[in-house]
Amino acid sequence: MPELPDASVFIATSIDGYIARPDGALDWLPQAADGPAEDYGYAAFMAGIDAIVMGRATFEKVLSFDAWPYAGTPVFVATGRPLSLPPRFDGEAIERVSGEPPAIAATLADRGFRHLYIDGGKTIRAFLNAGLVGRMVITRIPVLLGNGLPLFEATGSETRLNLLRTRSWASGLEQSEYRVERCPSPSSPR
Ligand SMILES: NC(=O)c1ccc[n+]([C@@H]2O[C@H](COP(=O)([O-])OP(=O)(O)OC[C@H]3O[C@@H](n4cnc5c(N)ncnc54)[C@H](OP(=O)(O)O)[C@@H]3O)[C@@H](O)[C@H]2O)c1
Repeated sequence: MPELPDASVFIATSIDGYIARPDGALDWLPQAADGPAEDYGYAAFMAGIDAIVMGRATFEKVLSFDAWPYAGTPVFVATGRPLSLPPRFDGEAIERVSGEPPAIAATLADRGFRHLYIDGGKTIRAFLNAGLVGRMVITRIPVLLGNGLPLFEATGSETRLNLLRTRSWASGLEQSEYRVERCPSPSSPR
């Protein structure tokens, strides 16, 4: 049986921990029109992954963009519902996956994928809670949205993170990359 793929997260949050406004709006993120060139490490991150697993809600948001941003990278949409794609997506590598994260990861491992990008708040939490996420790159946007869709929620269990690096930009964005450590069991020595 192939080893499960590495799974990474690359996501932007408000300082109060939201990834979108309550209605899913992303207008508070830096827009391409704000300035040229700076991609905050996105292209380098994408170069290291071979497939994307995104939640249904994130996929529907991306469908509303002017252009499909993932050409050339297989996208697996996690959903318990049928997936029907507008004709303009004919030829794109977009597939539906369902089930628990370990089963999704095992299916993608069988198909030869080694480095997954996990996207969407609920989907990230599900993969993280299943112990499948090894790396998280979190970019903090200097805004308190006050309300919205969260990146993290109360789980009742602890996950240790090992900070690999933090960098910041004059625009006010700060980005930290973490390795996700496995949690100590309650009986293990500290
Ligand atoms: N700030 C950022 O960088 C950033 C990045 C990504 C997304 N976003 C925003 O975040 C919002 C979406 O996040 P979200 O937390 O609402 O949800 P999400 O993770 O994108 O989607 C959640 C949905 O995916 C389906 N799903 C997830 N895991 C599944 C599994 N294992 N098996 C079957 N179905 C599964 C379920 O929908 P079904 O009912 O279809 O089963 C679930 O309700 C959007 O507004 C998006 O634009 C922001």
